[in-house]
Amino acid sequence: MLIFCCWLLQINLLYDSECPLCLHEIKFLEKRDINGNIKFTDLAAPDYNESSPENGKIDYEAGMKVIHAVMKDGEVVQGIEVFRRVYNAIGLGWVYACTSWPVIGPVVDWLYDIWARFRLQLTGRPALAQVVKERAERLAASGVPSCNDDKACKPLR
Ligand SMILES: *[C@@H]1O[C@H](CO)[C@@H](O)[C@H](O)[C@H]1NC(C)=O
Repeated sequence: MLIFCCWLLQINLLYDSECPLCLHEIKFLEKRDINGNIKFTDLAAPDYNESSPENGKIDYEAGMKVIHAVMKDGEVVQGIEVFRRVYNAIGLGWVYACTSWPVIGPVVDWLYDIWARFRLQLTGRPALAQVVKERAERLAASGVPSCNDDKACKPLR
């Protein structure tokens, strides 16, 4: 059963569970993902593994900056492309099909970039650097080693 379920997982979506608006979207996707094609990985979980290939070796800060997903073959995608892949996986690819069109596509990418840049502010949270620092402090306090303040201990890419 376990092998069966993991074999079906096509996309590992790295999401921020501390973002209320994002959670709304995630809940919708979870409900629509009846075939279990999507793995939902919470970036904000204390045990989120930044060095796991399954998570594309995406660190917390990079994942917070822009949404990422890791495909079954290890390919890492980000931004609007994540939504294209994820909606494809739940059979709603047409929703994002127009984002591959000329003119509309770049506009949607641009809108997403703005959202990604300002979402913390828009949802009443501190700036990214502060969020990253607070997380590192929380992890340190709970005894989980953190590499956030020490670039040298980040995995090589
Ligand atoms: C994180 O992932 C790496 C690479 O797969 C693995 O070696 C390591 O044990 C994992 N760490 C934890 C805490 O699971």
